Amino acid sequence: MRRTLAWLLFLLVAPVWATPGPDRLIQVGQTSAPPPLDPGDPAWTSAPAATVRLYPQITAPGGPGGSVLMLEARVLRSGGRLAIRLAWPDAGEDVADARATHRFADAAAVEFAPAGDTLPYVGMGEPGRPVQVWLWRAGQPPERLSAQGFGSLAGQAGAPPEAQARRSATGWTLVLRGKTDAPVPAAIAFAAWDGAEDGRAGRKRLSAWQALAGPGGTIPAALREEARLGGDPARGERLYTERGCVACHAPSAGLGPDLAQAGGIHWPGYLRRSIREPAAFRVPGYTSIMPKLGLQRLEIEDLAAYLMTRGQ
Ligand code: HEC
Repeated sequence: MRRTLAWLLFLLVAPVWATPGPDRLIQVGQTSAPPPLDPGDPAWTSAPAATVRLYPQITAPGGPGGSVLMLEARVLRSGGRLAIRLAWPDAGEDVADARATHRFADAAAVEFAPAGDTLPYVGMGEPGRPVQVWLWRAGQPPERLSAQGFGSLAGQAGAPPEAQARRSATGWTLVLRGKTDAPVPAAIAFAAWDGAEDGRAGRKRLSAWQALAGPGGTIPAALREEARLGGDPARGERLYTERGCVACHAPSAGLGPDLAQAGGIHWPGYLRRSIREPAAFRVPGYTSIMPKLGLQRLEIEDLAAYLMTRGQ
């Protein structure tokens, strides 16, 4: 009897509303003064450091590639201004040089999700759902851009962010500071390029969307459904074979994107949408051959839960 009760209690409190793992949530620090531009400013200690994994952008032309595997991010906010401090390892300094156009510069970018309760495709947004981008290339002034899908990066009106970068023997520390469209964006993502390996265009590494934590360290209310993880991964794994997903998504099949790291780069809501309505968004570099499979709602939950276990 006691065991049944304990089990019932467990079911009641089981975390159906799972929040993304620690690498999906960045706690925003507050400062009274303007957030600092200097990467060495002591005010940065008041912003908790988040370690963020970067994944190869497998779907982009020119990829996969990229050797920057991890970066440390801190975010400070004051008034309407946001400052983001990124630190990442990079063995050699590659700075833009107008006379040596064959050389590529080390670079990093911050991508801001548009307001709303769903996150667009993390690799440069989707048609009709623009993302804002701050781009820094070593040796060049930072840029303010926007994109509505891979390859659509364009300049955006408004003041570009300010940047201050510091080079050590082992890597870069960069602060980007500016105003974003939303005073507090719900989520941001990062990319880094290593100039030494022709790190240009798609040959970069990219993080998953990171929610900016609201008061109390929780994800913004608007993104709860996006983060919700309700299915059974073991059932999802069986369905993945039974429903023929492997026929296209196994790396050897090459007909659909490799989903081996789907759980690291995507959120549950994005995976559910991709399975439910394949035509709603086409992953860059692929044709829209994924069929609408007429799956039950719970089957979609299970498949998303299974894919979230891959690549975390
Ligand atoms: C006939 C081939 C085919 C089958 C079968 C198929 N897919 Fe896909 N899938 C694709 C292609 C092609 C894309 C990329 C183009 C697009 O977005 O429409 C894709 C995209 C996806 C994405 C988005 C991936 C990303 O990197 O953003 C997910 C998730 C996905 N499929 C899951 C599934 C699951 C789960 C099944 C089985 C229930 C399945 N697919 C069955 C071909 C297929």
